[in-house]
Amino acid sequence: MKQQRGQFGSHLGVLMAIIGSAVGFGNIWRFPYLVGENGGGAFLLLYLGITLVIGLPLMLSEFIIGKTAKSNCVGSFKKLKPKSKWHFIGYISIITGFAILGFYSVIGGWTIFFLVDSITGAATTSTELSSQNFDTFINSAWKPAAISLGFVLTVAAIVLRGVEKGIEKTNKILMPFLAIILVALAINSLTLDGAKQGLTFLFNPDFSAITFNTFLDALGQVFFTLSIGMGVIITYSSYVKNEYNMLKTQLIIITSDTVIALIAGIVIFPAVFTFGLNPSEGPTLAFVVLPTLFAQMSGGAILASLFFLMLFIAAITSAISILEMITAFMVEQYKISRRKAIIFPTIIIATLAVLSALSQSDKYTIEVMGLNFFDFLDALSANYLMTIAALLTIVFVGWKMDKSTVRNAFTSNGKYYTMLFPFIRFMIRYVVPLAIAVIMLSKLNII
Ligand code: PHE
Repeated sequence: MKQQRGQFGSHLGVLMAIIGSAVGFGNIWRFPYLVGENGGGAFLLLYLGITLVIGLPLMLSEFIIGKTAKSNCVGSFKKLKPKSKWHFIGYISIITGFAILGFYSVIGGWTIFFLVDSITGAATTSTELSSQNFDTFINSAWKPAAISLGFVLTVAAIVLRGVEKGIEKTNKILMPFLAIILVALAINSLTLDGAKQGLTFLFNPDFSAITFNTFLDALGQVFFTLSIGMGVIITYSSYVKNEYNMLKTQLIIITSDTVIALIAGIVIFPAVFTFGLNPSEGPTLAFVVLPTLFAQMSGGAILASLFFLMLFIAAITSAISILEMITAFMVEQYKISRRKAIIFPTIIIATLAVLSALSQSDKYTIEVMGLNFFDFLDALSANYLMTIAALLTIVFVGWKMDKSTVRNAFTSNGKYYTMLFPFIRFMIRYVVPLAIAVIMLSKLNII
């Protein structure tokens, strides 16, 4: 049986789907707390620099692979370099995908729980009580596990409907909705007393806060937030029609992702300063600090509900992209139907999600290498697997693919930005691999 490959129906659909993948917990949860922990504006500048110098060429490389090969994350490498071992990168992506979905679905479940909690007005006005509320929820073990299972099944149901009817349609409806909620929340934050202080913190660089670790955090964040080093962009770009102007598409995606992270910061920091809290709260910023802050504002229940709805949308559109990456691989490499292809990964993801939800409760000890299972999956994917896959991918495009093939993909057969190509290729061949390698080695304490 020859499977018909899916394709995005419009350029807007492409943009919404890839922005949907990119915008996730990375922007609304991880970015603000990293800014908070790393001294505000200085981290922001570093992050912007890395996004342009490393993030953009990496995303372009994945796009070039997907657009040229028109296949999944393993099949693409096989098509471009048959009889080589480069498709191994695709297998790393699949493992990373499982690992990310294993903990991402748990946080996805939290957003559902907190959404319901906010709608019913259960949030409290003190951080201690909110923190207790969060702890009680996490420790109830089977409850978060069951809710994350619900999250996984919803993701599977959307992916099952296919590229255009499931993925594109969902993103086209949900992403504008996310943007509207985000802007409304930001406007509300700007009216708070702490607005000025919050914005100063976000935009005023304090360079003394920058250490080498800040650099690593910023790099990891760029990979995570742009969904690179994971085969997701390879898969999605394989559904993109050839005629689009690649660089322009990428710039729109990267700018949107960055602007959304910034607006998330504008939502969060004024609120944090208004209520005299510490911006470096870390991961609990979104689930403990914010509900408390909203509860103290007028219309707090509505604001909190909107916030968690937005977080849920951000999460589900990212999770969809990861499951699609795995499903496309199953359908094309094993020549099975989409329905069959989804069952196996969904079972694995559901198992990982339940284990990582349980690992967070005091009742169960589920540890790998000294970390609870949830943290292990997070560290494994964001700190190691994505970096390795990203490095190998860019080396593949820079050194293994034919120059003319890369050029044709980048310029849409000579139509766009031909003058820029030598510069981009130089970045892809030398600058980015070197930068990633140096950072990786230092992470492993080798240099
Ligand atoms: N980019 C998503 C975020 O910011 C996470 C993600 C990583 C999604 C890798 C797909 C692939 O949350």
